[in-house]
Amino acid sequence: MTRNSPDPQPLLEMENVSVDFPVKGPYPFSKKCWIQAVTDVSLEVSEGETFGIVGESGCGKTTLANAMIGMVRPTAGTVRFQGVDLYALNPKAFKEARREMQMIFQDPFSSLNPRFSVYEIIREPLYIRGQASETVMKGKVLELLKLVGLDEEDMYRYPSDFSGGQRQRIGIARSIILNPRFLVCDEPVSALDVSVHAQILNLLMDIQKSRHLTYVFVSHNLAVVKNICQNMVVMYLGMIMESGSSDAIFANPLHPYTKALLSAVLDIDVTKPRDRILLKGDTPSPIDPPAGCRFWQRCPSAMKGCRTVPAKLVEVEPDHQVACHLISGFSAQQVADSLHEPVSPKSGG
Ligand SMILES: Nc1ncnc2c1ncn2[C@@H]1O[C@H](COP(=O)(O)OP(=O)(O)O)[C@@H](O)[C@H]1O
Ligand SMILES: [Mg+2]
Repeated sequence: MTRNSPDPQPLLEMENVSVDFPVKGPYPFSKKCWIQAVTDVSLEVSEGETFGIVGESGCGKTTLANAMIGMVRPTAGTVRFQGVDLYALNPKAFKEARREMQMIFQDPFSSLNPRFSVYEIIREPLYIRGQASETVMKGKVLELLKLVGLDEEDMYRYPSDFSGGQRQRIGIARSIILNPRFLVCDEPVSALDVSVHAQILNLLMDIQKSRHLTYVFVSHNLAVVKNICQNMVVMYLGMIMESGSSDAIFANPLHPYTKALLSAVLDIDVTKPRDRILLKGDTPSPIDPPAGCRFWQRCPSAMKGCRTVPAKLVEVEPDHQVACHLISGFSAQQVADSLHEPVSPKSGG
């Protein structure tokens, strides 16, 4: 991704990453199918920034985030952390790199083991490494409990004694006990009451500042992404539709999908007036995604060529890339094929 002040070495870099999951076919003897959860994604995350991933449910956000931190091995492409190919590391070095990369999960109700006390939950990553004494671990857990706004007495309670917001605080404490540099926050507030969203987000921002962390923030809440992310990608059906600085994208959304997403958010201040854009139909299956532009079947401005010609990310202004034929146009041959005839989003779907 191009930036105004290019980072000589981004903290995390993905190059043409794809993740396919094998699934059984619909019938007993049908062939194995592949879910194309993430396709050909390239991006860079700089040290100290908050990088947003947005898109509707099922578009591949969690899979992409997992591939970043070594939890899902990509089917193709490269993930480099601090300049080193993560998936080419030997097991010992891989384990060491994984210590630097942690995740805060979406659902604090299922991500915390109900049979473990808060102390056991928070200390577990340290305990597994087996290098710290009980006293050291206790001291560390106490320090973190304080940091996330919980009390010393909470240490021996169990997850069921806590509200969703408090449980997420426990999850946050656990995720930073190994002093990571890179933290993926996968929709960290979407399972919580709206009343605690701001508290948890503020806590995350404070921790980022005090511990010099780099965040990847996965969300479908564009208002939050606008507020906290410096750079972002908009995903649809496993691919990046638009990417760049959040300022550029929110000031001048160019992809029809980004425009539709933004038009649906009421509490967001974008500089240009906008009409509500309602997308027709459902997201197609990632088992058999459409050829050409992945979005064409739902695109209100689709042209004939969009059905067959894949849209590539092109830079439209500094810090702003879009994958859309409406912006980049077709080549002479592609134009001859498509003749820019509008296509009904419903046809051929
Ligand atoms: N372990 C898995 N096995 C098979 N399919 C998966 C697996 N994880 C995710 N998927 C599929 O990959 C697609 C992307 O999922 P996910 O990354 O969870 O999307 P999001 O986080 O944007 O909701 C979905 O179609 C989902 O069903
Ligand atoms: Mg997800």
